[in-house]
Amino acid sequence: MKTLTFKNGDTMPALGLGTWKSEPGVVGEAVKIALELGYRHIDCAAIYGNQAEIGMALAAALAAGTVSRSELWITSKLWNNSHGQANVIPALQQTLADLRLDYLDLYLIHWPVPLKADVGIPQTGADFISLADQPLADTWAGMQAAQAQGLCRHIGVSNFSVAKLQELQAVAGTQPEMNQVELHPYLQQPQMLEFCQESGMQLTAYSPLGSNDRPPALKVDDEPVLLADPQITEIATAHACSPAQILLAWALQRGTAVIPKSVNRTRLQENLEAAQLTLTDAEMATIHSLDKHRRYVDGTLWTMPGSPFTLETLWDEEA
Ligand code: A2P
Repeated sequence: MKTLTFKNGDTMPALGLGTWKSEPGVVGEAVKIALELGYRHIDCAAIYGNQAEIGMALAAALAAGTVSRSELWITSKLWNNSHGQANVIPALQQTLADLRLDYLDLYLIHWPVPLKADVGIPQTGADFISLADQPLADTWAGMQAAQAQGLCRHIGVSNFSVAKLQELQAVAGTQPEMNQVELHPYLQQPQMLEFCQESGMQLTAYSPLGSNDRPPALKVDDEPVLLADPQITEIATAHACSPAQILLAWALQRGTAVIPKSVNRTRLQENLEAAQLTLTDAEMATIHSLDKHRRYVDGTLWTMPGSPFTLETLWDEEA
C-alpha cells in the first residue's frame, strides 16, 4: 500500500475508506469488510452521524485480531459547532468515546465555518459565527492542545483555501500537516497541490468519485457525472479496469491520499485494487485536460441569507 509520510516519520496509508453518507445500519458492516479486505485507513467525522457504529466495528476487528491499533490510521473531524479553543478537546473526547479509541491518528477542523454551539446543520443566517468573532487561530490553539495531550497524533484542516492556510501558518505554533479538500479530475486545484507540496503539507482528496450519492439538497440538475466521463472511460477500457479505479489511481499518482466511500463489498475491493494501477504520462496528461474547476460540494449551504460567509470568502476565489 502506498503511504504518505508525516514530518515525524509516521506513515498514513494513501488509500482510505470514506464514511460520509454511509448510513448507520450499513456503515459498520462496510468497515468490517474493508478491514478484512486490507483497508487500514478510515476517514470519519462527527457530523456524519455514524461514528458510534464505526467504533463498534473497529472494536470488534481489534478484539478479533483482524488488525492492531498501530496498523490503523483513523482520521476524524471537529464539527463547525465546536470551534473555539475551549471546545475542541470536549468534542474530540466525544469522538474518541464514539469510536472507542484512546487517540486519533489525525484530527481536522472540518470547515472554516463556525456555527453556534446548539446548531448541527444551519437553518438561518443567525446560526453562524463570523471568523472575526471566532478566529480560526483560536480553534487551532485547541487543536494544538488536543495534540499535546496525546488525544490525536497529527492535526490539520479541511476545506481551507490557500489564503486561509497561509493565514493559519503565520500564527500557528504547530503547523497544519493536512488539508482535506475535494479533488478529482473536474476539480484538480493545481495551485493548492503546489502550495501544499512547497509547505510540506499533505493533501487528502475527498469526493474522488464525484459523490453521486450526495443528499438532493447538495445537488444541481445538470451536473456532469465524473464516473461517466468518456475519456476516463476510454482509459479504463485500455487498462481493463473500471472508471472509478482510474480516478483513484490518478489521485494516488499525484501524491495525494484519497478516500473513496463505498458500502458495497465488490466496490470496496475494486477501489482498494486501484492502488496497483499505473497510468502513463499520456493518460495523466489527458486527465489533466479535463479540469473544469467544478465543485460538487460547493459550500452553498454556508452562504444562506444572513450568513457572514459568501462563496467568495469561503473559497477565497471568485464564484
Ligand atoms: P456505494 O457506496 O454503493 O459503493 P465519493 O467517494 O466520491 O463520495 O463517491 C461515493 C459514491 O460512489 C457512492 O455512491 C458509492 O456507492 C459509489 N462508488 C464507490 N465505489 C465505486 C466504484 N468502484 N464504482 C462505482 N461507484 C462507486
